[in-house]
Amino acid sequence: MQQKNFLYLIAGIAALAGLLFGFDTGVISGAILFIKKDFQLTDSMTEYVVSSVLGGAFLGSLFGGKVIDLFGRKKILVLSAICFVLGSTVSALSQGAFELILSRFILGLSIGIASFAAPLYLAEISPPEMRGKIVSLNQLAITVGILGSYIVDYALAEQEAWRWMLGLGIFPAIALLVGLRFLPESPRWSLMRGDSETARKTLQTIRQADQVEGEMQEIASSFKLKSLGLSSLFSGWVLPVSLIAIGLSFFQQATGINTIIYYAPTILKQAGFEQEKMAILATLVLGVVNVAATIASLFLIDRWGRRPLLLVGIIGMSISLSVMGLAFYWKEVAWVSTLAVGGMIAYIICFAISLGPICWLVISEIFPAELRGVGASFATSANWMFNGVVAATFLTLVNRFGASGTFWLYATVCLIALVFIYFFVPETKGKTLEEIQTEMAQLGVGTHSITDDRSLLNDVT
Ligand code: BGC
Repeated sequence: MQQKNFLYLIAGIAALAGLLFGFDTGVISGAILFIKKDFQLTDSMTEYVVSSVLGGAFLGSLFGGKVIDLFGRKKILVLSAICFVLGSTVSALSQGAFELILSRFILGLSIGIASFAAPLYLAEISPPEMRGKIVSLNQLAITVGILGSYIVDYALAEQEAWRWMLGLGIFPAIALLVGLRFLPESPRWSLMRGDSETARKTLQTIRQADQVEGEMQEIASSFKLKSLGLSSLFSGWVLPVSLIAIGLSFFQQATGINTIIYYAPTILKQAGFEQEKMAILATLVLGVVNVAATIASLFLIDRWGRRPLLLVGIIGMSISLSVMGLAFYWKEVAWVSTLAVGGMIAYIICFAISLGPICWLVISEIFPAELRGVGASFATSANWMFNGVVAATFLTLVNRFGASGTFWLYATVCLIALVFIYFFVPETKGKTLEEIQTEMAQLGVGTHSITDDRSLLNDVT
């Protein structure tokens, strides 16, 4: 019991990184209106301010992989917390567009690092039967951060206090920095570096006494890969693993979640909520629904398993997007705004129980130990790239195909995602990370087994 409480405490601290991810990506949507006015930004400058975070997140996650494997899970989280403090402070005090773009880029770097390092750390410290729930605490924190940013934007809009909007992120960033001092290093990373003493000590604080030695042995016997470089992600049996992780990232973004998260007020205005205030209020409701449904998913993820939730969620997302498309198609009908909001709420619920948490969870579970850092970081950078592409193309798609056509397009992508998940995504519920690794290697995920692939093997004795 004591160990479990300590585990939850550790998870809560690490998940602050998720909260900052959610807050710092969400807060700009309200703040930008006033920044634009104050700094008299042109449209393209405005776009740079908004998208500098996505650029930073892409690079932070891409280059963080090597760092996390070399220096450890904890150190990279500390680096990300320092960047969060720095980025929030400078952006709140910015005197011009250049400073703002630079500081938002630094924030992006920290978001990029946090987005793969936090779930990976959580996966490595969790016992298998609780791993789904613990890793998904990070997704819960993301949704709380997004909701927090909506509330802050709403509350400070009248005063046009954009510096406070951006600056409030400093508090959770400092809390993360302080909290990280008390976190142990991941026992899996310590053991991989040959430090069995530290690994054992950590396991003794988060596992029952009789489980420690068994887990130590299981982890130690799983280190088989020789090469640690990025190229190993694309050779032998690891290639299909990488494709599954990148595929999940693609579908998490290409099914349109951030068109709702970033553009909800714009969509709602088109759907008949003429007053801005009402549109923003309805957006707040969506934020609350996102948090509530993510909480529900925490209770289902280790019971139902990843695959059933993904499949049910994706079918629901496809139906709700089709309904939203219909609502915009029947524009003249009186109850169209109700239909659009109903569709959006159902869509958010379905995302929050499926692709929201499970994409990050599976990415942190399926890579072999020696490639977990590089693999998760690469799949995460792909996630940020797809995120940027969807955000940058949404309004163009709406102009070209109308809102209905655009939502039907995302509904179709959901159907492709359904096929992908059904055939390729493995069930990882209740298995240790080492069991998952062995299974993926044995299946070769449909190709060949780890023992066939001499180029990737050490002389395992
Ligand atoms: C996604 C974000 C999204 C958020 C919404 C996360 O899992 O990666 O792109 O904004 O969920 O809750």
